Amino acid sequence: MTTSTPVERTLVLIKPDAVRRGLVGEILGRFERKGLTIEAMVLRGMDAALADQHYAEHVDKGFYPPLKDFMTGGPLVAAVLVGDQAIEVVRTLTGATDGRKAAPGTIRGDLSLSNRENLVHASDSADSAKREITLWFPDLP
Ligand code: TYD
Ligand code: MG
Repeated sequence: MTTSTPVERTLVLIKPDAVRRGLVGEILGRFERKGLTIEAMVLRGMDAALADQHYAEHVDKGFYPPLKDFMTGGPLVAAVLVGDQAIEVVRTLTGATDGRKAAPGTIRGDLSLSNRENLVHASDSADSAKREITLWFPDLP
């Protein structure tokens, strides 16, 4: 009998703070060195409508208006990463939401001091990954 773990796809956004700080290569490099594969990638902006769709679960929260201003305030890199248990692996590499509390060794723990400008978005479940990949890469088969 053979055992296998699922190869998954997940959506990553390398946020405007990372582009502004010149950290795109550093962050992508961490994902690549881990063994994840880039299946699709684009540098683009996020407009207000896309922000409301992407963050549908957060639009009514108090932190959303400044988050939306931040996320629509400059170019970001959107990518689909693929690999064994990619959804959980990418969340682990990314670290806790608040960069001040994220563990050392994680992207946010090593490179962010903010609970908003925390460098990376990563899908948090199989359902989120499917929804977000369709939203950002509607032409991907
Ligand atoms: P959330 O989905 O809770 O975090 P994560 O990105 O770790 O999945 O929140 C989405 C984004 O909203 C988060 O990356 C940064 C921002 N945010 C704030 O600006 N303030 C907050 O208090 C929280 C919880 C999130
Ligand atoms: Mg989230």
